[in-house]
Amino acid sequence: MSDPDSKIIVALDYSNEAQASDFINKVSPELCKLKVGKELFTTAGPQFVEKIVAKGFDVFLDLKFHDIPNTVMKACHAAAELGVWMANVHALGGQTMMQAAKEGVSHSSTKLIAVTVLTSMGQEDLKQIGIQTGIVQQVVNLAQLAKQSGLDGVVCSAKEVSLLRQSLSEDFLLVTPGIRPAGSASGDQKRVMTPADAMAAGSSYLVIGRPITQSDSPVKTLKQIVLTQKSV
Ligand code: C5P
Repeated sequence: MSDPDSKIIVALDYSNEAQASDFINKVSPELCKLKVGKELFTTAGPQFVEKIVAKGFDVFLDLKFHDIPNTVMKACHAAAELGVWMANVHALGGQTMMQAAKEGVSHSSTKLIAVTVLTSMGQEDLKQIGIQTGIVQQVVNLAQLAKQSGLDGVVCSAKEVSLLRQSLSEDFLLVTPGIRPAGSASGDQKRVMTPADAMAAGSSYLVIGRPITQSDSPVKTLKQIVLTQKSV
C-alpha cells in the first residue's frame, strides 16, 4: 500500500488542531499528503504546519493568496519558509501577481499552483460576478496564464483534466478537488468525479476532504480510496 508519492491529498478541514491531530496520528506520509486550508491555519497557525512537515508529511498549504503582487510574493515566501510541499494562489490575481508569487518561492522546492475556477462554482455563479466566458474556456484560459507565469500547475475539476492536458505539458500538475467516491454526497461541490475516474482522466493529485474526514472510519475510507485509485 505504501507509495513514495501518494496521489491522495487529504483536506484537513477540521476546526481545531486536536481533531486534525487525531486523524494525522493514524496515517503516514506514504499513505497520503495533507492539505491545510484557511480554517485550520487560522485556528492552529504556522506552528501546526511546521509540526506536520517535521513528521515527514508533504503539506499543501491551501491559502489561495489573491492580493497585490508584492504582498503575495511575501506571503508565498513565508509559506516556503514553513517547508510546505505546495502552496497556491488565485489565477484571477493575474500574470504579474503569479510571477511575483513564483519569485517568492524561488529559493525553495515548494511547488506553486493556481486555482482556476473553484469547483463549487457553476456557469450561473460566473455570470453573477461578471464573467461571460464559458466555464471550461475560463479554466483553460487561466491554466494557460498560470503556465505562462511560470507556475507548476493548477487546481481544477477532474472534469477539465483531459481538455487541459491537450494544451499543457505532462509535467504541469493538475490537482483536482471535487472528488466523490461512488455513493457519497456531493455537498456544495458542483463538478465532481470518483477517485478512479479522476486518476484515469490524468489528474496528478486528488484532493479529498469530507468523504474521508466526515466518514465514520476516516482511515478505513482513505485506505479504500487508495486501493480503488491504484486499480486504475
Ligand atoms: O470536502 P471536499 O472533498 O469537498 O473538500 C475539497 C477541498 O478542496 C476543500 O478543502 C476546498 O477548500 C478545496 N478546494 C476546492 N476547490 C478548489 C480549490 C480547493 O474544493 N478549486
